[in-house]
Amino acid sequence: MNSPSKSAKGKGKTMSQDYDDLRPIITYRHILSQNLGVRDPLRVIALCDSDAFYAACERVRLALDPTVPIVVQQWESLIAVSYPARKYGISRMDKIKDAKKKCPNLVAVHVATYKEGEKEPGYWDNVDTRTHKVSLDLYRRESSKIINVFKQTLPNGEIEKASIDEAFIDLTRPVREKLLERYPHLATVPEDAPDGADSPLPPPPLINWDQLGVLIPLTPQDEVSAQDELSNVESGYSTTWHDVALSIGAELMAQVREEVSKQLGYTTSAGIARNKFLAKLCASYKKPNSQVIDRQSILRNDAIPYYLRPMPFQKIRFLGGKLGDALAKEYDVLIVGDLLTISLDEMQHKFGENALWVYELLRGIDRNEVKEKSTLFKSMLASKNLPKPITDPADGQHWIRVLAAELALRLKDAREEVPTLWPKTIVLHARKGYETSRSKQAAFPFTKNVTVDVIALAGNKLWKELMKDVTSINITSVQLAFTGIEAAETGQQMIHGFFKTRDAQHPPLKRPRSNSDDPLDKGVESETPNPPERQELSLTSFVCERCHSRIALGDVRAEWNEEQRASALAMLRQEHEDFHFAQDLAGASHPIKPRSSKPVSTRSREPEPKGITKFFSKK
Ligand code: CTP
Ligand code: CA
Ligand code: CA
Repeated sequence: MNSPSKSAKGKGKTMSQDYDDLRPIITYRHILSQNLGVRDPLRVIALCDSDAFYAACERVRLALDPTVPIVVQQWESLIAVSYPARKYGISRMDKIKDAKKKCPNLVAVHVATYKEGEKEPGYWDNVDTRTHKVSLDLYRRESSKIINVFKQTLPNGEIEKASIDEAFIDLTRPVREKLLERYPHLATVPEDAPDGADSPLPPPPLINWDQLGVLIPLTPQDEVSAQDELSNVESGYSTTWHDVALSIGAELMAQVREEVSKQLGYTTSAGIARNKFLAKLCASYKKPNSQVIDRQSILRNDAIPYYLRPMPFQKIRFLGGKLGDALAKEYDVLIVGDLLTISLDEMQHKFGENALWVYELLRGIDRNEVKEKSTLFKSMLASKNLPKPITDPADGQHWIRVLAAELALRLKDAREEVPTLWPKTIVLHARKGYETSRSKQAAFPFTKNVTVDVIALAGNKLWKELMKDVTSINITSVQLAFTGIEAAETGQQMIHGFFKTRDAQHPPLKRPRSNSDDPLDKGVESETPNPPERQELSLTSFVCERCHSRIALGDVRAEWNEEQRASALAMLRQEHEDFHFAQDLAGASHPIKPRSSKPVSTRSREPEPKGITKFFSKK
């Protein structure tokens, strides 16, 4: 229900009040502080996303010209379409047959697959979902290479991988260094400064935005007159020091992206703004329908209102889904501008205290940090949905070997970066339809050389235990995972010592771990019944046995096929279990927040969540 008085009050507000933090006063103290974190008024964040990523990986692997129309297919569907192929009207929605009709010269590459008996995934003839399993290893590897170029080129920028082809980069520190280098007079507070270090900085220089990227216009008029191209100095616009910071950030990003292109052959699109939310949003400025790729967009603070206001808010990643639906229904509105008329009181009244977060997002405020995710408690999961269900327990071995090959390769890749990585646990899940999931887990032996054989042996042991006393089976999905992957300092000796202390310190730890020489003997059964529910729901969420929360995929893509959705869900489940495990380790006094970067919706059985927690568990 609408609250007329509050909305009316909101409507009376001017736009500058809605966005009243766009031109903060920046002082010497600000520029000389090192640790202002998310409150830094000179914060510069970039999001860099690779263009048509999987297609680009295959193009680079095959050393093809960037103008060649190429697509990547998975069985009969397309999972990536290069920009030259998009010119023919081909999209991810097309089936391969139709794509070839649209473009007879199309280069179609089937994504690499694992098949039994092969240690490495490959590009085989006659791939078949009944016998093969998709491998995304090449793309993961290329993704790490790109991240490494970011790290080398920007040694003091914080980098957070956001997805297989995206990363956030906090440019605040390198920008600050360049700023002080270029404008050394900012480094000393002038003697006659009225308020000492708290005096505002002198006026900033004019900026030449040429070559720096696409400036998102300040007004709709600018958009028309600039015709997509940069107007260097807008009349009547006064530059801020934050604009100068953004322009330096844009220089740095242009260099980073050039390195990625030179060293690895990938083009990228980037967004540069004052926080993560805005950087991500403007990275896809005018993408994906146009052919504009290989470029960066810059969102100045003063351009935020005109950029955000007309945006349909349900298109915004965090405001899609249930929360967006609820907002749209509650206020009967479509665009961000409409929601600006709702006062904070009103929103908090309807959606709880945490609605502050939505209120701020609509105003271009986002206090999330860019943080490199630690590899602690990371898991690796190989999963296969079976078009032809396993009905004979003996047939499980085939898939376990295939999944083991994937885990072996992924661990090997990961160890290239952190050589001492060791998975503490191996877990096997088998699912019958979407109803029940049975799983077995066991401590994973410490072996320096984690081969397919070692993993398959452990996996088969779990499979046998899982199939014990089972008369009839009908398995439609199998998953093999490593969990609790950690970097050990040196050698086995250390690792054993490390875990002994840990277990002694935290006796109530739920996840059992063995110190015996053959840890595989200590397989522990854990059955995770997944109550029958609406099919659609069971595909995208699950109820955690421990906290009774419903955990849902935050970002379900319409184009995902069942296999992709199931793997995403399995990964989420594993992450959630790891979260409990981490919480156990940390002890009850310091609960850790779930690590998932996706918004996870949580619905506890008891107590009923209040306000906005119905839609989110995480700010
Ligand atoms: N991907 C996928 N299935 C999806 C969505 C994405 O397999 N449902 C893969 C794509 O193959 C893609 C990569 O994840 O190459 C990154 O996705 P995204 O950035 O959304 O698309 P791109 O193909 O990179 O295209 P764009 O240039 O628009 O970013
Ligand atoms: Ca992309
Ligand atoms: Ca992406």
